[in-house]
Amino acid sequence: MILVTGGAGFIGSNFVLDWLAAGDEGVVNVDKLTYAGNLQNLQAVASHPGHVFVQADICDAGVLARLLAEHQPRAVVNFAAESHVDRSIVGPAAFIETNVVGTFRLLEATRAYWSELPEAERAAFRFLHVSTDEVYGTLSKDDPAFAETKAYEPNSPYSASKAASDHLVRAWHHTYGLPVLTTNCSNNYGPFHFPEKLIPLMIVNALAGKPLPVYGDGMQVRDWLYVKDHCAAIRRVLEAGTLGETYNVGGWNEMPNIEIVKRVCALLDELRPRADGASYIGQLTYVKDRPGHDRRYAIDARKIERELGWKPAETFDTGIRKTVEWYLANGEWLHNVQSGGYRDWVAAQYDNAKEATA
Ligand code: NAD
Ligand code: DAU
Repeated sequence: MILVTGGAGFIGSNFVLDWLAAGDEGVVNVDKLTYAGNLQNLQAVASHPGHVFVQADICDAGVLARLLAEHQPRAVVNFAAESHVDRSIVGPAAFIETNVVGTFRLLEATRAYWSELPEAERAAFRFLHVSTDEVYGTLSKDDPAFAETKAYEPNSPYSASKAASDHLVRAWHHTYGLPVLTTNCSNNYGPFHFPEKLIPLMIVNALAGKPLPVYGDGMQVRDWLYVKDHCAAIRRVLEAGTLGETYNVGGWNEMPNIEIVKRVCALLDELRPRADGASYIGQLTYVKDRPGHDRRYAIDARKIERELGWKPAETFDTGIRKTVEWYLANGEWLHNVQSGGYRDWVAAQYDNAKEATA
């Protein structure tokens, strides 16, 4: 079996569901269940014999050692992280703790376990670290997209903590020979995306008749990838990636935030029109910009396409339609994630950003 961390979050839960649907190999799913972890994401596999869920912190070296010894995984896939840039600006400590210290503890526990494996199993073992394009910093309009050779220039506490974790993973390979792989992916969207992030927040607020808060001028560019395509890329890198290499994963789909919001509104207008017949775009509100907001990310995904034959299956049109449909069909999931803690975050974050700039 494989051991996955952070498998109750957005991407991790999609990965676990797809993994169990695709084959017979089991998953030990280690997740602390922070505000972002949700066992409801995994309801479909709650009684699946191949899914073992363990609530635990990747900073806990003792638990990690016990789980590795007990389950003898052939691979570790590390999704566990604090993932929201805005939260990292308000409270960076948790990002250093989980993303840096947690990755360190996981590397050390894995190294101890891996070094005791019989030779054939040691050679076949993999540690796959899931990272982000944000480690590369920001691009101007005409800069080339991020290739794997681009220097790291992280700008937020979140991206700095992910960059640090990537460096640890690299060093554990170089120094100890741990068989690692790293993926750096662009912005994901799709089912189970927590509604603190742009796309699900816009859907939730639109349906609730609330303002759609766009930071600054809304012209920041991200490269959007449907989450199931990211999961397929991770499976492919795990299967065939070259040890010690990093692979950039993206959708060739750069779009300014304002365009994303318009697309979401147009789909909602079609699929769940407002009672008064007006478009949801009327709810758009420009708010104060994110401090240090990166202007543009773009991924050059040619390496993973060329070397491993991976390509995204979804276009933005097909992926965003599936996503909006999923949110409309899963009102109960949405209702349940909008807990007291979620409401407190939204109130504090957007009260702060209320001074509209446009
Ligand atoms: P998420 O915030 O939705 O989920 C993170 C999960 O990790 C949650 O289930 C949480 O409970 C768990 N977790 C947090 N701290 C933990 C700890 N100390 N021990 C164990 N579990 C812990 O995040 P996501 O969007 O699913 O991102 C998953 C990974 O992919 C992260 O490493 C993130 O940096 C990376 N990534 C995300 C995106 C994106 O667009 N969301 C893009 C590229 C890379
Ligand atoms: O690029 C990959 C990264 O994408 C991942 O590593 C992160 O874990 C993930 O959270 C995401 O980071 P972003 O900061 O790009 O995602 P977010 O959804 O928070 O914001 C997307 C863009 O939309 C960004 O330019 C900020 C803007 N935004 C966001 C929110 C929440 C708004 O304009 N208004 C908002 O309310």
